[in-house]
Amino acid sequence: ITIAHPTPLQWPHKGNFESLDMASVRRGYEVYKQVCSACHSMKYRYYRHFSDPEFGFMTEEEAKAEAAEALIDDLSDKGQPIKRPGKLIDRLPSPYPNKIAAEAANIGKYPPDFSTIMLARRPHGFAPRFNTNSNEDYIFSILTGYMDAPAGVKVDDGQAYNPYFPGGVIAMPQQLFDDGIEYKDGTPATQSQQAKDICSFLRWSAEPFHDKRKEWALKGLVLLPLVTVIILYMKKHTWSLIK
Ligand code: HEM
Repeated sequence: ITIAHPTPLQWPHKGNFESLDMASVRRGYEVYKQVCSACHSMKYRYYRHFSDPEFGFMTEEEAKAEAAEALIDDLSDKGQPIKRPGKLIDRLPSPYPNKIAAEAANIGKYPPDFSTIMLARRPHGFAPRFNTNSNEDYIFSILTGYMDAPAGVKVDDGQAYNPYFPGGVIAMPQQLFDDGIEYKDGTPATQSQQAKDICSFLRWSAEPFHDKRKEWALKGLVLLPLVTVIILYMKKHTWSLIK
C-alpha cells in the first residue's frame, strides 16, 4: 500500500521569524485534555510548564486549577498507594500504568507519548527537516484524513483506514469531529480547527523554547557581521608592530 503525502500547510509558527500562536496552543491543550489524553501520555510535561514565566500560556492560578482537577498517584504517609489532587510540581498523569497495559487496551499498538512527538521521525523513518514543520503536516493529515477503506484492504475491529499512516491501517479510530468539544474562547471547534490547535500545542510541548530559539538566532545573525569586523580590526592591531 502506498502512503499519501501530507499536505504542506501554512503554520502560524512556520518560518524563521514567526512565533507560536499562543491562543492556538491554549486551545490545543483543551483538545489534548478532552480527547487525546484518554490514550496518549505526556509524561515529560509538568503543570508548572503551563505557567512558566518564559514560555507558559496560562497564569499560575489557571495552571494550579488545571493540576487540581487531575488525580495523581502518590503514596500516603504510611506508604499506601493513594490518589490526590495535582499540584504545579506534578507531571501530567498518564492514561495507563505502563506500556504493556497501554498496548493491551489498544489491540497491541502503543499510543506514542506526546511530550516531544513533534521532533520524532515521522512519517516513520523520515527525519523532520529543520524548520519545515513536516510533523505538523503529518499529524494534521492523519487527524483529518480518515476515509472508507478501498476495496481489498482489510480493516479489523479497532482499526481504521488512513492513507497518511504508513501501511494505511491505523489502530486509532477517528478522534476529531466538528463540535466534538467546545472551546473556552468560543472559537468554533471544527475538525480542522481542533487538528490545527493540537498541532500548535504539540509543537509548544516539544520545543517550549521555540520562540526564544528563533529570537536568539535572529540576534546572532544581526550581531555576527559586527563582531567579525571588530575581531578583524583587533587582529590587524595586534600584529601591526611585528615585521
Ligand atoms: C497513534 C494522534 C487520540 C490511540 C497516533 C498517531 C498520531 C496520533 C499522530 C500516529 C503516531 C505515529 O506516527 O507513531 C492523536 C491525537 C489524538 C489522539 C492528536 C487526540 C486528538 C487517541 C485516542 C486513542 C488513540 C483517544 C485511544 C482510543 C492511538 C493508538 C495509536 C495512535 C493505539 C497507534 C496506532 C498504530 O500504531 O497503529 N495518534 N491521537 N489516540 N493513537 Fe492517537
